[in-house]
Amino acid sequence: MTDARQGLSGLLDTEAIRKDFPILDRTVHDGKKIVYLDSAATSQKPRQVLDALNEYYERHNANVHRGVYTIAEEATALYEGARDKVAAFINAPSRNEVIFTKNASESLNLVANMLGWADEPYRVDSDTEIVTTEMEHHSNIVPWQLLSQRTGAKLKWFGITDDGRLDLSNIDEIITEKTKIVSFTLVSNIMGTINPVEKIIRRAQQVGALVCIDASQAAPHMVLDVQALQADFVAFTGHKMVGPTGIGVLWGRQELLEDLPPFLGGGEMIETVSMHSSTYAPAPYKFEAGTPPIAQAVGLGAAVDYLSAIGMENIHRHEQAITEYAVRRLLEVPDLRIIGPATAEDRGATISFTLGDIHPHDVGQVLDEQGIAVRVGHHCARPVCLRYGIPATTRASFYLYSTPAEVDALVDGLEHVRNFFG
Ligand code: ALA
Repeated sequence: MTDARQGLSGLLDTEAIRKDFPILDRTVHDGKKIVYLDSAATSQKPRQVLDALNEYYERHNANVHRGVYTIAEEATALYEGARDKVAAFINAPSRNEVIFTKNASESLNLVANMLGWADEPYRVDSDTEIVTTEMEHHSNIVPWQLLSQRTGAKLKWFGITDDGRLDLSNIDEIITEKTKIVSFTLVSNIMGTINPVEKIIRRAQQVGALVCIDASQAAPHMVLDVQALQADFVAFTGHKMVGPTGIGVLWGRQELLEDLPPFLGGGEMIETVSMHSSTYAPAPYKFEAGTPPIAQAVGLGAAVDYLSAIGMENIHRHEQAITEYAVRRLLEVPDLRIIGPATAEDRGATISFTLGDIHPHDVGQVLDEQGIAVRVGHHCARPVCLRYGIPATTRASFYLYSTPAEVDALVDGLEHVRNFFG
């Protein structure tokens, strides 16, 4: 153990947790044990989730809400049971407020399209404004650009400070009486910044704007209580929270889901159909056209069980300890510049950095040769790179199975990168 690790507290029993994640035993490049530091892109999956997927397909596979036979009823019960689990996980007042989508991008596009087709009082037109931030993942920028282009609404955004925080100094000019929707990320996917939700929501509520929160990088890592948040919509994805790919969630306030129009039409989302018109099923089904991602929802239910058994507060505490350690150790690496908060306060377990003038793709490649998996590029948040005048970053992101030893491996690996490039 390095001296620097002494005094670290709040860590989970990662030795036990890692036994649940078969992939973490993998070796690459002639026996090098994998050091997986890319959980912000996608998390690894525990056996409990893999088993739930397998069991679903081996014993219960059938389409939902249709069949009258036994396994169809079981499939429906499992799918709807997953909705109950997700509703409890985010403290939703009603299970009917939980819409299953294919990922967070689809959830955010769903909100933009609900509003795009809505009548008053939700109507978005050339007299109205949409607000987002420069810190967003592309999935929380492009849907709003599309809505703005289609309706003529003005797109505005909060900028970022030099130290990777949202610049809210002009909040009253950005969010105005004309603002219809404010959509922002709770935790930055590139810099790890945790944003001051309350301040933004208070201002949005003053002007009667709706609030949509991208919680993709929050739901896996901290308690997410939609009632405490007081937003109108919250989007997140399953695959970053030890669940499978292909399943996302949009939570929305029930009265909004009742009022707003659907985005996709098809089976499952209707009440009656004639050749002239259709009436729609109540939420959430109104927004779930077609055969839904059944096995994926069941897997997400198992993921929620897994995370809840460990405890989101315990997971958050673990990540805070790892992040504090990682920031401290990374700042010891010569020429390393953290892009975003260079402290452990109000930040999640995702750290982007540059290393002198070595291109991040080169950094990533040399790290990979040592078994260390990081993400390099603009991380689908290109405006952040433009803001700091850099083409890309190297990003290390940690999760409940990450260990201080893996932070040390990264730091040693970066030393190797520096030597390699002279
Ligand atoms: N949104 C994922 C990331 O930030 C893919 O890496």
